[in-house]
Amino acid sequence: MCGIVGYVGPRDVIPVLTNGLEKLEYRGYDSAGVAYVQDGKMKVVKTKGRLQNLRDKLGDASQENTIGIGHTRWATHGEPSDINSHPHTNVSGSLAVVHNGIIENFLKLKEWLQEKGVHFVSETDTEVVAHLVNYYYEGDLKTAVMKAVKMLEGSYALGVITVKEPDRIVAVRKDSPLIVGIGKGENLIASDVPAILEYTRDVYFLDDNEVAVIKKDEIQIYDAYGARTTKEAVTIDWDVTQAEKAGYEHFMIKEINEQPKALADTLFPRIHDGKIDLTDAGFSDDMIEGIRKIYIVACGTASYAAQVGKYVIERLARVSVEVDAGSEFRYRNPVLEPDMLVIVISQSGETADTIAALREAKKRGLKVIAITNVVGSTLSREADAVFYTRAGMEIAVASTKAYITQLLALYMIAMEVGRIKGKLADEEYARLLKELERVPELSKEPMEKKKDLQKLASQRYMDQHAFYIGRGLDYAVAMEGTMKIKEVSYIHAEAFSAGELKHGTIALIEKNTLVVALATQADLLEKMMSNIKEVKARGGYVFAIVQERDAATVADQVDQVFTIPNVEDLFAPMLSVIPLQMLGYYAAVSKGCDVDKPRNLAKSVTVE
Ligand code: F6R
Repeated sequence: MCGIVGYVGPRDVIPVLTNGLEKLEYRGYDSAGVAYVQDGKMKVVKTKGRLQNLRDKLGDASQENTIGIGHTRWATHGEPSDINSHPHTNVSGSLAVVHNGIIENFLKLKEWLQEKGVHFVSETDTEVVAHLVNYYYEGDLKTAVMKAVKMLEGSYALGVITVKEPDRIVAVRKDSPLIVGIGKGENLIASDVPAILEYTRDVYFLDDNEVAVIKKDEIQIYDAYGARTTKEAVTIDWDVTQAEKAGYEHFMIKEINEQPKALADTLFPRIHDGKIDLTDAGFSDDMIEGIRKIYIVACGTASYAAQVGKYVIERLARVSVEVDAGSEFRYRNPVLEPDMLVIVISQSGETADTIAALREAKKRGLKVIAITNVVGSTLSREADAVFYTRAGMEIAVASTKAYITQLLALYMIAMEVGRIKGKLADEEYARLLKELERVPELSKEPMEKKKDLQKLASQRYMDQHAFYIGRGLDYAVAMEGTMKIKEVSYIHAEAFSAGELKHGTIALIEKNTLVVALATQADLLEKMMSNIKEVKARGGYVFAIVQERDAATVADQVDQVFTIPNVEDLFAPMLSVIPLQMLGYYAAVSKGCDVDKPRNLAKSVTVE
């Protein structure tokens, strides 16, 4: 996955492109580049590394060119290098292409083009697109692009310009996101909304196989067969300031601190007359009544939210739940029957593996509910019902506020499934809802004790390994905790169900090994204490996270206790994950890591 942007209009194109790329760097930051038409010639400037390298290379001389495309790359085919950076051009350099996605049959196409004498300079799959469009070009860029994409297998969002038609960008997508920004006397394309928000709030979300011809005062959209089509514009109501750090050092810590608001925004508008109301999500009793089994499919952090969802739905609704990674679900031919429901979870709504799972489930006739944070995302458009988490824009690569609202969404769905299926008595439903309404306020407390976590992080940031243990819901949260510390601070961490530790992994516990023990569940506290003692007996350093009510019981058995406010046990994950996010964050800060853009990662993984 990568980020693409394009502009045509009266402004100087270079700052428009580089500012847009800055907003898209979360999609990859292995290299960056731009192509623009100057004095009838294609200029390409690109470089390995961060966007700043490109800015340095471009210099600050204004060039007053009015059409161009830009790219920020997360390397798939070919190492990060200047030559593999986008944009790519045809041999004569008359046309330029930016691409997000993977061309799966690029080797075959490359050989075919090489037989025709085309000389390739990079190792990328994208370069074939530039040569293919050039091969089919007979005076009309749109026709050439349409012919070229017919040859492509895989996923792509493409932006193409040529010196021969310097008034237009041709854009097309399949299985990779692409939007068209509708300006006044200027228009844009981008992989995602933040890149264009400075110029317009009105956008078209292109659908698969649609082709757009974007000129400064006209946008034409065509279907896959070349027929003109009309689309409804969507007005984005996000605030641009959400993309700023607002005084925080990093987006990650800003977003951690935004969690109480994200929870409140997701919860309260959906409570009416003492009941959860999911009609805005397209949720209906019919959808749930006959359901015998639920699959939850997601990737990464969203899949750890799914693990919490499994516990909660099974407990409250007595419906069996299976959790699968998007990348596994599709290829293992899962047993899917008509009385099953699929829930897909994705912050971006653009994760290729999760989209593939949704499509597989729909193809097999199942209803799909999407939980996503991005309005208009592919997942939201293809699912039968959409629960929008209202976390606001999440910029840091490491997910925090999106995860916590995914948990909340799953709690609300679990309560609704329990109610519809008659497994949750009215009094219990009312009691749980009252308790759930306390969570946004309670979630402020862990942030107030940041000093404890800063101190621990400053003592442990050079550790090579850490183990996170818990039982039941605490185990599910431990998985997310390890993800947070691994991805931003590069400390290797593993999550174990505490009872499993003694079946092998305990061999790795030695004097001073950091063990984070989550013990927030009253019915499992005694068992957890036994597991903690097993660790202590081997010299491990135990950092325990418990509810306030249990602090005294646990304190003298462990090295350090962190308390979360007392809460209904079922809802503890929404509080206990916060110190784990902060521990990951402060360890990364102590270590001097690039917190918001960890190495090798990208925020939106739109390739399989
Ligand atoms: C980790 C993280 C990733 C994402 C995963 C899925 O902090 O953010 O593991 O959760 O790539 O992304 P979405 O939720 O956009 O489908």
